[in-house]
Amino acid sequence: MKIPQHIAIIMDGNGRWAKAKNLPRTKGHKEGAASVEIITKEANKLGVKYLTLYAFSTENWARPKTEIIALMNLLEETLDKFLNNPDKNIKIIFSSSRKKLPAKILKKMQQVEKESAKNKGLTLNLAIDYGSRQEILEAISKLQKKNLKPTKANFEKCLYNNLPDPDLIIRTSGEQRLSNFLLWQAAYSEFYFTKTLWPDFREKELLEAIKDFSIRQRRFGA
Ligand code: FPP
Repeated sequence: MKIPQHIAIIMDGNGRWAKAKNLPRTKGHKEGAASVEIITKEANKLGVKYLTLYAFSTENWARPKTEIIALMNLLEETLDKFLNNPDKNIKIIFSSSRKKLPAKILKKMQQVEKESAKNKGLTLNLAIDYGSRQEILEAISKLQKKNLKPTKANFEKCLYNNLPDPDLIIRTSGEQRLSNFLLWQAAYSEFYFTKTLWPDFREKELLEAIKDFSIRQRRFGA
C-alpha cells in the first residue's frame, strides 16, 4: 500500500454525531478530540510523515460563545496531554494566525512546539485559528516587507509552515468543499470524501482512505 507522505483532514460532523445521539454538541467535540488522538497515533504507526488537522477556522469565531469556550477548553486539554505525557515520536507545530487565541493557549502552543521540536516521527500540524486566505495575505505582506521576489519558493517560505503539499485531503461527514483550508497547498492534492462523521473516524476509516488513495494515478498535470 502506498502511504501518503502528508495527509490533511477537515474534521467535520461533531455536531451531527451528538445530535443523532441526543447529546449536547460539546459531547460531539469531545469524541472528536478522541479521534484526533487515535488518528495521530495510527498515522504515525503507518509511516505518514505529516498530518495536518483543521481544528478551528478563522470563521469558527462566529459560533456561539459557549461552543467556542468548549472548543478552547478541549484544545487546552489536548495540549496539556501533549505536555504531561509526550509521545517522543511526534513533533507538533501549528498553522495559525495566532491573532485571536487566548494568551494561555498561545503559551501552551509555544511550549508544545519547543518541547516536541526534536522528535523525528510524525509531524502533527494543528490548524487552529486558521484560514487559508488569511495565510496567503499574511505571506504576501511578509514577502513585501522582506523585499523578496514573488517566486513560489519565496512565497512558500512566508506561509505559516513550509511543509510538502498534502498528498491526500480527507473531509468527513459528507460535505464536499474546501472551506478556506490549504487553498495554495491543495493544488495537486487528491481528495477523499466520506459520509463518516469525525467522531466515528478511527483506524479502519483511515486505512480505507489510504487504500483509496493508493490506487489513484497522479500525473500532476503532466
Ligand atoms: C466540525 O464539527 C468540527 C470542528 C468545529 C473542528 C474540529 C474540532 C475537534 C475535532 C475537537 C477538538 C480538536 C482538538 C485538536 C482538540 P461541526 O461542529 O462543524 O459539526 P456539524 O457540522 O455536524 O455541526
